[in-house]
Amino acid sequence: MLSVKGLCAGYGALTILKGINLEIGRGEVVGLVGANGAGKTTLVRTLAGLLPARAGEICLGGEDITRIPPHRRSGFGLAVVLENRNLFGELTVRENLVLAERAGRGRSPVFSLDRIADLFPAVGEKLNVRCDLLSGGQQQQVAIGRALLQQPDIVVMDEPSTGLAPKVVKDILDVLGRLRADGMSIILVEQNIAIASSATSRAYVMATGSVAHEIPEGHWPCFMADEKLVSAYLGHHQGAAHQ
Ligand SMILES: Nc1ncnc2c1ncn2[C@@H]1O[C@H](COP(=O)(O)OP(=O)(O)OP(=O)(O)O)[C@@H](O)[C@H]1O
Ligand SMILES: [Mg+2]
Repeated sequence: MLSVKGLCAGYGALTILKGINLEIGRGEVVGLVGANGAGKTTLVRTLAGLLPARAGEICLGGEDITRIPPHRRSGFGLAVVLENRNLFGELTVRENLVLAERAGRGRSPVFSLDRIADLFPAVGEKLNVRCDLLSGGQQQQVAIGRALLQQPDIVVMDEPSTGLAPKVVKDILDVLGRLRADGMSIILVEQNIAIASSATSRAYVMATGSVAHEIPEGHWPCFMADEKLVSAYLGHHQGAAHQ
């Protein structure tokens, strides 16, 4: 489904991503974890095409999309939920969703406005409300709704749970579970490994712009129990005491 090989990117004279390799299959929910500054968002922005790849390639569904401009990547089946959510604050929820729906035109429609309202009832109740008047959790749900309305094969989400109340995080994770059951491929960027381990079946661990470690399917418990590994890659605050 998504295959990333030797991907390099950076800002100005700075090289941040130093040869990233990833493989995500259809229907897989894969975590991307790592400490602050590891390069997770830089990778998400490069996958989205917002930051140019300086080397390497990104293939989606067998097509090379490395040089495809960002607004055309949804046509290849890629949708990205950015860290800043990228909503039009002065437009209503409905308007935000309809605009996203247009980007997915031409792809077989799986997600409708009704389906989004069903997945996220709080969004369904606010269709006529301006986005900048929503809570952070509601805005995150609209952002995910926008991604789904592009009718993607794979969704990349950059820390969707950050800063949200536990109840909202649970609602979002429940939706990810439903999407996964429907065969959607998802990359979940997450700093909190308790959340990552509950929502994904395997994960890549990033450190200083590289994939430093892989957690294969079924190995989350083993990784979490290894205090040295956890603190090396994610910081001491997520040591065994938190599990
Ligand atoms: N616009 C930019 N210009 C220059 N350097 C940047 C820019 N954005 C990020 N960086 C640097 O790139 C590195 C990786 O940052 P990035 O935001 O990708 O990390 P991250 O893993 O997403 O961290 P976090 O968990 O805090 O979101 C950091 O050293 C950061 O300072
Ligand atoms: Mg980030």
